[in-house]
Amino acid sequence: MTILGIETSCDETSVAVVRNGREVLSNVIASQVELHAPFGGVVPEIAARRHIECIGSITDEALRQAEVSFADIDAYAVANGPGLAGALLVGLNYAKALAYVNKKPLVGVQHIEGHVCANFLEGGLEPVCAGESKSKVSASPPFLSLVVSGGHTLLLAVTDYDTYKVIGSTRDDAAGEAFDKVARVLGLPYPGGPEIDRVAANGSPDAVAFPRAKVRGYDFSFSGLKTAVVQHVAKLKQADGTCSLQGLIPDIAASFQQAVVDVLVERATTACKNENFSHVALAGGVACNKGLRAAMETACREKGIGLSIPKPVYCTDNAAMIASRGYYRLAAGHEDDLALNAFPGRMV
Ligand code: KG4
Ligand code: ZN
Repeated sequence: MTILGIETSCDETSVAVVRNGREVLSNVIASQVELHAPFGGVVPEIAARRHIECIGSITDEALRQAEVSFADIDAYAVANGPGLAGALLVGLNYAKALAYVNKKPLVGVQHIEGHVCANFLEGGLEPVCAGESKSKVSASPPFLSLVVSGGHTLLLAVTDYDTYKVIGSTRDDAAGEAFDKVARVLGLPYPGGPEIDRVAANGSPDAVAFPRAKVRGYDFSFSGLKTAVVQHVAKLKQADGTCSLQGLIPDIAASFQQAVVDVLVERATTACKNENFSHVALAGGVACNKGLRAAMETACREKGIGLSIPKPVYCTDNAAMIASRGYYRLAAGHEDDLALNAFPGRMV
């Protein structure tokens, strides 16, 4: 079954063609980062307008790269939440039009479940050497998924291809949100996550003792850590008098990153053991983080837990993961009609 997937939930317009939920024939992504950079964050109105401008040509390009035509597409999958309302509506209505004109099934996909499905894409995983994942070309349930994105930090119990149960989530800021906010405090350009990752490579993770929040169960909290960084920077500026952080940013970035990574790794590996899973699947934009990838690999190897880490292109927003999730939804008997709406605040 060949599915065309569409992703427009935030600031990436992406269209992909995926066969049988796993074989990526094409995955075209148009990033809007440069449009939003001057504003220091995503401007919803600009995002929606840009999706409208390029969704047609991105779709043509996805078909061209996959060497297929609309006649070869068996169904249309689209992310319909969570995300920015105006942005979601562009992809949703485009998918509806394609499904209607081509008389093919339409299926809505929960964006976060889509992120998890990045782990199903053949050739989509980094070669990690922990446990059973060593020889695998892609992951398969059951597993525990740690989803770390700009808007969400979740631990999901994925017991089969259609069952995603939240067992832990953030009480306040998402991990990516914390990265982006701290980057701003340090004067690093938008988007902040990759910048912190880059700068942290030259700093010491032990330089500043930032707090690791202890929240009951498998939940997370990053707002206290964010405040600690803000206060640390304010004190340095006062002491210095010149308001210059020059030379200190790598150490602060590395110490902050380590604090986030420690909590994510500890929660994920503890939940994995306690809930009787033998495999952890990373997902979401923050899963690009080099510190997180390395620390997860070390911890999982030590504890004998299998680990899969999607390649960076499948961690950040992309339509291949949406097409994959759409395939498994259709396989489980779900199908939507033209009344399908967008749900900006939709949760698993
Ligand atoms: O999954 P994603 O592309 O979009 C959402 O669904 O939110 O995640 C975007 C988030 C942003 O907060 C971005 O700063 C963060 O992922 N991110 C990173 C890295 N690359 C992207 N955070 C830390 N280190 C990175 N290398
Ligand atoms: Zn996302």
